[in-house]
Amino acid sequence: MSKDFGLIADDYAFFMTHATEAEHDAADYARELAGFAEGRAFVRMLDFGAGGGEFTERLLKKLAWPAEKLSLHLVEPVESQRAEAVKRLQKYATCSEAGTPAIATSARPPDASSVKPFDVVLSNHALYYVDDLAETVRGLVGLMAPGGKLLAAMASWQNTLMRLWQLGFGLIDQPVPYYAADDLTAELDHLGVPFRTSKSHYELRFPDSEQNRLRMLRFLLAEHLDEMPRDELLAFFDQHAQGGEIVMRTWSEHVVVG
Ligand SMILES: C[S@@+](CC[C@H](N)C(=O)[O-])C[C@H]1O[C@@H](n2cnc3c(N)ncnc32)[C@H](O)[C@@H]1O
Repeated sequence: MSKDFGLIADDYAFFMTHATEAEHDAADYARELAGFAEGRAFVRMLDFGAGGGEFTERLLKKLAWPAEKLSLHLVEPVESQRAEAVKRLQKYATCSEAGTPAIATSARPPDASSVKPFDVVLSNHALYYVDDLAETVRGLVGLMAPGGKLLAAMASWQNTLMRLWQLGFGLIDQPVPYYAADDLTAELDHLGVPFRTSKSHYELRFPDSEQNRLRMLRFLLAEHLDEMPRDELLAFFDQHAQGGEIVMRTWSEHVVVG
Protein backbone atom coordinates (compact mmCIF):
# COMPACT_ATOMS: atom_id res chain seq x y z
CA MET A 1 0.00 0.00 0.00
CA SER A 2 1.46 3.34 -0.99
CA LYS A 3 -0.52 5.62 1.36
CA ASP A 4 -1.32 4.75 4.98
CA PHE A 5 -4.65 6.39 5.83
CA GLY A 6 -4.29 5.19 9.42
CA LEU A 7 -1.65 7.91 9.92
CA ILE A 8 -3.63 10.75 8.37
CA ALA A 9 -7.13 9.88 9.59
CA ASP A 10 -7.68 13.33 11.20
CA ASP A 11 -6.48 15.22 8.13
CA TYR A 12 -8.70 13.12 5.87
CA ALA A 13 -11.63 13.78 8.22
CA PHE A 14 -10.88 17.52 7.93
CA PHE A 15 -11.13 17.30 4.13
CA MET A 16 -14.34 15.26 4.31
CA THR A 17 -15.95 17.76 6.70
CA HIS A 18 -15.12 20.74 4.50
CA ALA A 19 -15.85 19.31 1.06
CA THR A 20 -19.18 18.55 -0.62
CA GLU A 21 -17.46 15.76 -2.55
CA ALA A 22 -18.97 12.79 -0.66
CA GLU A 23 -22.50 14.17 -0.88
CA HIS A 24 -22.23 14.63 -4.66
CA ASP A 25 -20.53 11.25 -5.17
CA ALA A 26 -23.24 9.46 -3.17
CA ALA A 27 -26.07 11.27 -4.97
CA ASP A 28 -24.60 10.33 -8.37
CA TYR A 29 -24.16 6.65 -7.44
CA ALA A 30 -27.68 6.56 -5.96
CA ARG A 31 -29.05 7.81 -9.29
CA GLU A 32 -27.02 5.16 -11.13
CA LEU A 33 -28.28 2.40 -8.80
CA ALA A 34 -31.93 3.51 -8.62
CA GLY A 35 -34.18 0.46 -8.99
CA PHE A 36 -31.18 -1.91 -9.04
CA ALA A 37 -32.34 -3.99 -6.06
CA GLU A 38 -35.91 -4.32 -7.32
CA GLY A 39 -36.65 -7.78 -8.64
CA ARG A 40 -33.40 -9.18 -7.20
CA ALA A 41 -33.53 -11.66 -4.34
CA PHE A 42 -30.29 -10.18 -2.98
CA VAL A 43 -27.48 -7.77 -3.86
CA ARG A 44 -23.84 -8.66 -3.23
CA MET A 45 -21.72 -5.54 -3.01
CA LEU A 46 -17.94 -5.18 -2.84
CA ASP A 47 -16.57 -1.91 -1.45
CA PHE A 48 -12.92 -1.54 -2.44
CA GLY A 49 -11.08 0.92 -0.16
CA ALA A 50 -14.02 1.23 2.23
CA GLY A 51 -12.25 3.32 4.90
CA GLY A 52 -14.35 3.52 8.07
CA GLY A 53 -17.57 3.02 6.07
CA GLU A 54 -18.82 6.63 6.37
CA PHE A 55 -19.18 7.05 2.64
CA THR A 56 -20.91 3.71 2.11
CA GLU A 57 -23.31 4.47 4.96
CA ARG A 58 -24.19 7.75 3.24
CA LEU A 59 -24.86 5.88 -0.01
CA LEU A 60 -26.83 3.05 1.61
CA LYS A 61 -29.04 5.57 3.42
CA LYS A 62 -29.91 7.11 0.06
CA LEU A 63 -30.54 3.74 -1.60
CA ALA A 64 -32.68 2.49 1.32
CA TRP A 65 -32.35 -1.13 0.14
CA PRO A 66 -33.83 -3.70 2.55
CA ALA A 67 -30.95 -4.84 4.80
CA GLU A 68 -32.05 -8.45 4.38
CA LYS A 69 -31.30 -8.20 0.63
CA LEU A 70 -27.77 -6.85 0.99
CA SER A 71 -24.44 -8.51 1.75
CA LEU A 72 -21.17 -6.56 1.79
CA HIS A 73 -17.54 -7.38 1.30
CA LEU A 74 -15.33 -4.54 2.55
CA VAL A 75 -11.76 -4.32 1.27
CA GLU A 76 -9.67 -2.00 3.41
CA PRO A 77 -5.97 -2.33 4.31
CA VAL A 78 -6.16 -0.36 7.59
CA GLU A 79 -7.36 -2.83 10.23
CA SER A 80 -8.91 -0.26 12.60
CA GLN A 81 -10.85 1.26 9.68
CA ARG A 82 -12.13 -2.19 8.66
CA ALA A 83 -13.42 -2.80 12.17
CA GLU A 84 -15.06 0.64 12.26
CA ALA A 85 -16.69 0.04 8.88
CA VAL A 86 -18.18 -3.30 10.00
CA LYS A 87 -19.62 -1.66 13.11
CA ARG A 88 -21.07 1.22 11.13
CA LEU A 89 -22.53 -0.83 8.26
CA GLN A 90 -23.84 -3.97 9.94
CA LYS A 91 -27.39 -2.69 10.24
CA TYR A 92 -27.56 -2.07 6.46
CA ALA A 93 -26.48 -5.57 5.37
CA THR A 94 -27.94 -8.65 7.01
CA CYS A 95 -28.24 -10.98 4.02
CA SER A 96 -26.24 -14.16 4.50
CA GLU A 97 -27.53 -16.14 1.53
CA ALA A 98 -26.00 -19.53 0.78
CA GLY A 99 -23.71 -19.46 3.77
CA THR A 100 -21.74 -16.31 2.83
CA PRO A 101 -21.44 -13.81 5.70
CA ALA A 102 -23.60 -10.66 5.64
CA ILE A 103 -20.42 -8.61 6.02
CA ALA A 104 -17.03 -10.00 5.03
CA THR A 105 -13.77 -8.06 5.18
CA SER A 106 -10.28 -8.35 3.79
CA ALA A 107 -7.19 -6.22 3.39
CA ARG A 108 -6.96 -7.08 -0.32
CA PRO A 109 -9.56 -7.93 -2.96
CA PRO A 110 -10.78 -11.52 -2.74
CA ASP A 111 -9.75 -13.98 -5.40
CA ALA A 112 -12.48 -14.51 -8.01
CA SER A 113 -12.09 -18.29 -7.69
CA SER A 114 -12.87 -18.20 -3.96
CA VAL A 115 -15.97 -15.93 -3.78
CA LYS A 116 -19.29 -15.56 -5.53
CA PRO A 117 -19.30 -12.65 -8.00
CA PHE A 118 -20.59 -9.23 -6.90
CA ASP A 119 -23.61 -7.38 -8.28
CA VAL A 120 -22.10 -4.01 -7.33
CA VAL A 121 -18.38 -3.28 -7.18
CA LEU A 122 -17.82 0.16 -5.65
CA SER A 123 -14.55 2.00 -5.29
CA ASN A 124 -14.88 5.55 -4.06
CA HIS A 125 -11.61 7.48 -4.24
CA ALA A 126 -9.37 4.52 -3.42
CA LEU A 127 -7.84 3.40 -6.72
CA TYR A 128 -5.22 6.19 -6.60
CA TYR A 129 -3.32 4.24 -3.96
CA VAL A 130 -3.02 0.69 -5.25
CA ASP A 131 0.40 -0.72 -6.09
CA ASP A 132 -0.60 -2.03 -9.51
CA LEU A 133 -3.66 -0.44 -11.11
CA ALA A 134 -3.73 -2.77 -14.13
CA GLU A 135 -3.84 -5.85 -11.91
CA THR A 136 -6.40 -4.29 -9.55
CA VAL A 137 -8.77 -3.21 -12.32
CA ARG A 138 -8.52 -6.62 -13.98
CA GLY A 139 -9.29 -8.22 -10.61
CA LEU A 140 -12.28 -5.97 -9.88
CA VAL A 141 -13.80 -6.45 -13.34
CA GLY A 142 -13.31 -10.21 -12.90
CA LEU A 143 -15.33 -10.07 -9.67
CA MET A 144 -18.43 -8.60 -11.36
CA ALA A 145 -21.53 -10.77 -11.69
CA PRO A 146 -23.35 -10.85 -15.06
CA GLY A 147 -25.65 -7.80 -15.10
CA GLY A 148 -23.58 -6.18 -12.36
CA LYS A 149 -22.12 -2.69 -12.15
CA LEU A 150 -18.73 -1.30 -11.28
CA LEU A 151 -18.79 2.28 -9.98
CA ALA A 152 -15.54 4.11 -9.33
CA ALA A 153 -14.73 7.71 -8.48
CA MET A 154 -11.29 9.25 -8.94
CA ALA A 155 -10.01 12.71 -9.73
CA SER A 156 -8.27 13.30 -13.03
CA TRP A 157 -5.06 15.29 -13.44
CA GLN A 158 -7.29 18.34 -14.16
CA ASN A 159 -8.58 18.37 -10.56
CA THR A 160 -7.26 21.30 -8.48
CA LEU A 161 -6.04 19.06 -5.64
CA MET A 162 -4.19 16.79 -8.06
CA ARG A 163 -2.15 19.86 -9.03
CA LEU A 164 -0.84 19.81 -5.44
CA TRP A 165 0.40 16.26 -5.97
CA GLN A 166 2.12 17.40 -9.16
CA LEU A 167 3.57 20.47 -7.48
CA GLY A 168 4.76 18.63 -4.36
CA PHE A 169 6.41 15.71 -6.13
CA GLY A 170 7.74 18.04 -8.85
CA LEU A 171 9.51 20.06 -6.13
CA ILE A 172 11.46 16.96 -5.10
CA ASP A 173 11.96 15.73 -8.69
CA GLN A 174 9.87 12.63 -8.21
CA PRO A 175 6.98 11.26 -10.23
CA VAL A 176 3.60 11.30 -8.46
CA PRO A 177 3.40 7.81 -6.88
CA TYR A 178 -0.40 7.65 -7.23
CA TYR A 179 -2.81 7.01 -10.09
CA ALA A 180 -5.54 9.28 -11.52
CA ALA A 181 -8.86 8.74 -13.32
CA ASP A 182 -6.97 9.07 -16.61
CA ASP A 183 -5.06 5.87 -15.71
CA LEU A 184 -8.26 4.01 -14.79
CA THR A 185 -9.96 4.77 -18.12
CA ALA A 186 -6.75 3.85 -19.98
CA GLU A 187 -6.69 0.46 -18.20
CA LEU A 188 -10.35 -0.23 -19.06
CA ASP A 189 -9.66 0.71 -22.69
CA HIS A 190 -6.66 -1.60 -22.65
CA LEU A 191 -8.83 -4.45 -21.31
CA GLY A 192 -11.53 -3.71 -23.91
CA VAL A 193 -14.12 -3.18 -21.15
CA PRO A 194 -16.83 -0.67 -22.18
CA PHE A 195 -17.45 2.13 -19.66
CA ARG A 196 -19.13 5.53 -19.26
CA THR A 197 -17.72 8.58 -17.50
CA SER A 198 -19.33 11.68 -16.01
CA LYS A 199 -18.13 14.59 -13.90
CA SER A 200 -19.18 15.02 -10.28
CA HIS A 201 -18.61 18.65 -9.25
CA TYR A 202 -17.91 19.64 -5.65
CA GLU A 203 -16.64 22.46 -3.49
CA LEU A 204 -13.92 22.50 -0.84
CA ARG A 205 -14.23 25.43 1.57
CA PHE A 206 -12.37 25.91 4.86
CA PRO A 207 -11.25 28.79 7.11
CA ASP A 208 -7.91 30.04 5.82
CA SER A 209 -5.04 29.49 8.25
CA GLU A 210 -1.59 27.99 7.94
CA GLN A 211 -2.73 25.16 10.20
CA ASN A 212 -5.67 24.32 7.91
CA ARG A 213 -3.55 24.60 4.75
CA LEU A 214 -1.16 22.14 6.39
CA ARG A 215 -3.99 19.76 7.21
CA MET A 216 -4.92 19.62 3.53
CA LEU A 217 -1.28 19.11 2.57
CA ARG A 218 -0.89 16.26 5.07
CA PHE A 219 -4.06 14.60 3.73
CA LEU A 220 -2.76 14.86 0.17
CA LEU A 221 0.95 14.26 0.58
CA ALA A 222 1.06 12.19 3.79
CA GLU A 223 4.55 10.99 4.73
CA HIS A 224 6.11 12.71 1.67
CA LEU A 225 5.28 16.20 2.97
CA ASP A 226 8.29 16.24 5.30
CA GLU A 227 10.67 15.96 2.34
CA MET A 228 9.04 18.83 0.40
CA PRO A 229 9.71 22.60 0.54
CA ARG A 230 6.70 23.67 2.56
CA ASP A 231 6.49 27.39 1.70
CA GLU A 232 5.80 26.77 -1.99
CA LEU A 233 3.09 24.27 -1.16
CA LEU A 234 1.45 26.59 1.37
CA ALA A 235 1.55 29.43 -1.19
CA PHE A 236 -0.43 27.29 -3.69
CA PHE A 237 -3.57 28.08 -1.69
CA ASP A 238 -3.18 31.89 -2.16
CA GLN A 239 -4.91 31.80 -5.56
CA HIS A 240 -7.97 30.19 -3.87
CA ALA A 241 -8.20 32.64 -0.90
CA GLN A 242 -11.52 34.47 -0.66
CA GLY A 243 -12.69 36.58 2.31
CA GLY A 244 -10.82 34.60 4.98
CA GLU A 245 -11.58 31.21 3.44
CA ILE A 246 -9.97 28.86 0.93
CA VAL A 247 -12.52 27.98 -1.72
CA MET A 248 -11.91 25.45 -4.49
CA ARG A 249 -14.51 24.32 -7.00
CA THR A 250 -13.43 21.23 -8.85
CA TRP A 251 -14.68 17.79 -9.87
CA SER A 252 -14.11 14.03 -9.81
CA GLU A 253 -14.65 11.59 -12.63
CA HIS A 254 -17.22 8.83 -12.17
CA VAL A 255 -16.51 5.72 -14.17
CA VAL A 256 -19.28 3.16 -14.63
CA VAL A 257 -18.97 -0.32 -16.12
CA GLY A 258 -22.20 -2.21 -16.79
C1 LIG B 1 -9.71 8.57 0.22
S1 LIG B 1 -10.05 7.17 1.20
C2 LIG B 1 -11.68 6.73 0.66
C3 LIG B 1 -12.46 5.96 1.69
C4 LIG B 1 -13.92 5.71 1.34
N1 LIG B 1 -14.07 4.91 0.14
C5 LIG B 1 -14.62 7.06 1.15
O1 LIG B 1 -15.05 7.35 0.05
O2 LIG B 1 -14.70 7.80 2.14
C6 LIG B 1 -9.05 5.94 0.44
C7 LIG B 1 -9.13 4.57 1.11
O3 LIG B 1 -8.40 3.64 0.31
C8 LIG B 1 -7.70 2.79 1.17
N2 LIG B 1 -6.56 2.18 0.46
C9 LIG B 1 -5.28 2.61 0.37
N3 LIG B 1 -4.54 1.73 -0.33
C10 LIG B 1 -5.38 0.75 -0.71
C11 LIG B 1 -5.21 -0.47 -1.44
N4 LIG B 1 -4.02 -0.81 -1.94
N5 LIG B 1 -6.28 -1.27 -1.60
C12 LIG B 1 -7.51 -0.93 -1.10
N6 LIG B 1 -7.72 0.21 -0.40
C13 LIG B 1 -6.68 1.03 -0.21
C14 LIG B 1 -7.26 3.69 2.31
O4 LIG B 1 -6.85 2.98 3.46
C15 LIG B 1 -8.50 4.55 2.50
O5 LIG B 1 -9.39 3.98 3.42
